[in-house]
Amino acid sequence: MKQVLLFSLLVGFKTVNGDTSSCSAPPATLALSDPPYNNYFYSDCNVAAQVVVTSPLADSDLTVIGPRLIVAWPAGNSGACAFFAPQSGVNGTLAIELVNSTVGTPLAAVNSSQAGVETTTTPAVGVSGVLRFNASAVLTLPILGSVRTIRDFVEGASILRPEIQDAITVSTLADGSVALQRLWLDNVTTSTLSFAPWNENNRSSSSSSASGSVTLNNQTVQFEQGDYLFSATIDYPQLTQLTPAQDLNDNSSDLIVQYPDQTTALSFLSYSEKLLAGAWRFLTYFGRDSMISALLLEPVLSYGNGSAIEAVIGAVLERIDRTDGSVCHEETIGDYATWTNLQNNIISTAMSCSYGMIDTDYYLPVLMQKYFVDNHVGKTRFSVFSKISAGSIDSANLNLTYGQLALINGEKIMRLAAPFASNQTKENLVHLKDGQIVGQWRDSTYGIGGGRIPFDVNTALMPAALRSIAVLARNGIYANHSNWGELADNYAQVWEDSTLQFFEVTVPQAEARQRVVSYSASSNFTGPNQTTTIDEDVRFYALSLDGYDDLAQVQVMHTDDCFRHLLLNTTNQTQLSTLLNATANNLRRTFPAGLLTDVGMLIANPAYGPDPVYAQNWTTGAYHGTVVWSWQMAMMAKGLELQLSRCNDSNANVPDFCQDPFIYNNVRSAYNTLWDSIEANTAELSTEMWSWVYDGGFQVEQLAELPPPPGVSGQTESDIRQLWSLTFLAVSRLAV
Ligand SMILES: *[C@@H]1O[C@H](CO)[C@@H](O)[C@H](O)[C@H]1NC(C)=O
Ligand SMILES: *[C@@H]1O[C@H](CO)[C@@H](O)[C@H](O)[C@H]1NC(C)=O
Ligand SMILES: *[C@@H]1O[C@H](CO)[C@@H](O)[C@H](O)[C@H]1NC(C)=O
Ligand SMILES: *[C@@H]1O[C@H](CO)[C@@H](O)[C@H](O)[C@H]1NC(C)=O
Ligand SMILES: *[C@@H]1O[C@H](CO)[C@@H](O)[C@H](O)[C@H]1NC(C)=O
Ligand SMILES: *[C@@H]1O[C@H](CO)[C@@H](O)[C@H](O)[C@H]1NC(C)=O
Ligand SMILES: *[C@@H]1O[C@H](CO)[C@@H](O)[C@H](O)[C@H]1NC(C)=O
Ligand SMILES: *[C@@H]1O[C@H](CO)[C@@H](O)[C@H](O)[C@H]1NC(C)=O
Ligand SMILES: *[C@@H]1O[C@H](CO)[C@@H](O)[C@H](O)[C@H]1NC(C)=O
Ligand SMILES: *[C@@H]1O[C@H](CO)[C@@H](O)[C@H](O)[C@H]1NC(C)=O
Ligand SMILES: *[C@@H]1O[C@H](CO)[C@@H](O)[C@H](O)[C@H]1NC(C)=O
Ligand SMILES: *[C@@H]1O[C@H](CO)[C@@H](O)[C@H](O)[C@H]1NC(C)=O
Repeated sequence: MKQVLLFSLLVGFKTVNGDTSSCSAPPATLALSDPPYNNYFYSDCNVAAQVVVTSPLADSDLTVIGPRLIVAWPAGNSGACAFFAPQSGVNGTLAIELVNSTVGTPLAAVNSSQAGVETTTTPAVGVSGVLRFNASAVLTLPILGSVRTIRDFVEGASILRPEIQDAITVSTLADGSVALQRLWLDNVTTSTLSFAPWNENNRSSSSSSASGSVTLNNQTVQFEQGDYLFSATIDYPQLTQLTPAQDLNDNSSDLIVQYPDQTTALSFLSYSEKLLAGAWRFLTYFGRDSMISALLLEPVLSYGNGSAIEAVIGAVLERIDRTDGSVCHEETIGDYATWTNLQNNIISTAMSCSYGMIDTDYYLPVLMQKYFVDNHVGKTRFSVFSKISAGSIDSANLNLTYGQLALINGEKIMRLAAPFASNQTKENLVHLKDGQIVGQWRDSTYGIGGGRIPFDVNTALMPAALRSIAVLARNGIYANHSNWGELADNYAQVWEDSTLQFFEVTVPQAEARQRVVSYSASSNFTGPNQTTTIDEDVRFYALSLDGYDDLAQVQVMHTDDCFRHLLLNTTNQTQLSTLLNATANNLRRTFPAGLLTDVGMLIANPAYGPDPVYAQNWTTGAYHGTVVWSWQMAMMAKGLELQLSRCNDSNANVPDFCQDPFIYNNVRSAYNTLWDSIEANTAELSTEMWSWVYDGGFQVEQLAELPPPPGVSGQTESDIRQLWSLTFLAVSRLAV
């Protein structure tokens, strides 16, 4: 941090309250408390931003949770962050909070543009509000620029980059305020974060009447106990938000009144350019997140020109790697894009994409079928939509249309499907890319235990994509590939019928009980061991193949069978009955014998792993450990609903399991047990994920409050709102 003393550099600071903006609609706001985090969303026609205020609780781990202010903008995936510490030096004695004030309740827009004044520069926009310190404090670390830079510090090994940190200037101003600012690496955009003493009674930020003072001491910002008006801005182009009414189709507009929290959150994550994966950490394009969300939300989302679903599909096509048809996982934009380019000795602000995932490609044809074939409006749209020119976001795709990019993606999937379709060997299954330790949604260190061949991609996503490619081809959507109508279906049949075998795990009853008992002991689980519910050999499917520690199968019980239930109507009756029965048994049994807990369905249970290394890595503190993810419950519920609905099929395709009273009732009972669990945890459902502690029962615990698994340096904090956690807007309980 470098100090400069200037008296006129505040950008947008004088225009608190958005006085100069001219939005016709009132701002959309959402205040969500999730101690130790308090979250505030604010958007109007000029700006959208989220503020997160963290303040330690009496029982917080003070080495991990400290006072922190974050402001995040979807525009440029930008953020400003400040860490604070008590001047007393005793962690835990400083609490900070945003308070309602005459500025806002608690936030107001900041907008530097002047009414009626045309300028060629992008106005500085952001939010302001009153921040209260209960004790004297010091600003220990500011980070200004990209959310990715903040995440590198928060989640990684506390990475700070001199080229970014040293560009922060801090200055005191004549009115007693202190301002931090940083010019981005693009040499154009500036982030600002300022604090001024605040006296509510005089509605004043002049130091004479305010409650405390903020000063610079040896280049460090110090605060006396008191209230401060903070303001954070960026002068970077904003996105075009979709209102709740624009997000949802006409038949679903009642949801806006019924579920104001969820529909406001959905709107905050929806823009005509793209849907965003989630609150502050993921406030930008993620391919998998947006497509899974769109698949589940499709019944309620808007369709047609300018709709939410076309925003999702357009954003995906726009970002496809034209050289091989891969779908972009995560985009790198804003300041982080310029920084990333510099690492490659390129001076450019151009965005880029990561293509390291192997699952994301397959969601595209499935979503395209759902919209361009199955939706009554969507099926009239492809002729126009396919001719849209790409390149406005990813200039590498100039000269290609959306239709051509969709074809390149289809060609990739057909190419990858062919070897296994002709020879069903393990080698021909889809593997993670070389050099990557992740490749599908469980993308953390131990997500799939180092496996090279994930369950979901091979047993569900590939065959589902092939089924959809066949349908799309029959509907003329892939130019010059009408033969795919038959070929992709033939491939799909092989991938459906011949992949589960590689993942099957059967643990004999006595052995299963013994493994659960030893897991309970080694994992220090203090609840009932549930071994009496193990009344049979236990069957499940390995999470992946070829894992760490030379594990041929990573024998962790999991929920990824939900992909198969949701996306495929398989026809091998033996396999279907066995899989559904196993899903139902594992879902009905309580952890550690199964996946059920009082706090929801766990996504992983390592209790049946024959090696102690399983218990060590899939912990309550692991992002993809013995934890609950909301959307997995939504997808499992919807998947079981679809499989059960096959029993009512009027044409003669009713599956065998419908006539097996045990299995049919087992699946129904699992469906209802899952819904009971969903309904018991409604308070958590819109959040990204959550963990638990056992104290006379399973109790919800924030992941950030638990230590990470061995060998993982930083802990991950769950997002307060995540796009795919809002899918319960379209998934509801049926009487079955
Ligand atoms: C105090 O808080 C800081 C910042 O959060 C942390 O690095 C440090 O480990 C904490 N110290 C103690 C003793 O908890
Ligand atoms: C702040 O104002 C909002 C909106 O009026 C209100 O919902 C909230 O309860 C207030 N918070 C406090 C702490 O008074
Ligand atoms: C920004 O300015 C610096 C100094 O003039 C220059 O070295 C750098 O290349 C510029 N960056 C961009 C993205 O133009
Ligand atoms: C000022 O801060 C620097 C860097 O943190 C430190 O090395 C120096 O001792 C400080 N000076 C005083 C007078 O506290
Ligand atoms: C697009 O076409 C123009 C004109 O044919 C050409 O100059 C340009 O290099 C092409 N761009 C790409 C990305 O292929
Ligand atoms: C299938 O692959 C296996 C293992 O690579 C090989 O031994 C076998 O010859 C192949 N079969 C055919 C029909 O290509
Ligand atoms: C479990 O974690 C240990 C320690 O980090 C690691 O060496 C091992 O390979 C991991 N095993 C699996 C299956 O994830
Ligand atoms: C269980 O407790 C023992 C003794 O306190 C400890 O050494 C071990 O690391 C704990 N295991 C886990 C998985 O937390
Ligand atoms: C497992 O739980 C049962 C029933 O609560 C209990 O009787 C038994 O002692 C437990 N087994 C072990 C090895 O802790
Ligand atoms: C169905 O799958 C089972 C188990 O994998 C296999 O034994 C059987 O041959 C398959 N049946 C058909 C008709 O393909
Ligand atoms: C279904 O599960 C039950 C309970 O474990 C078991 O007894 C039965 O054999 C299973 N049926 C099939 C077809 O897997
Ligand atoms: C599977 O069958 C159900 C019930 O007939 C139907 O609603 C669903 O759309 C089908 N799914 C696929 C992927 O074909």
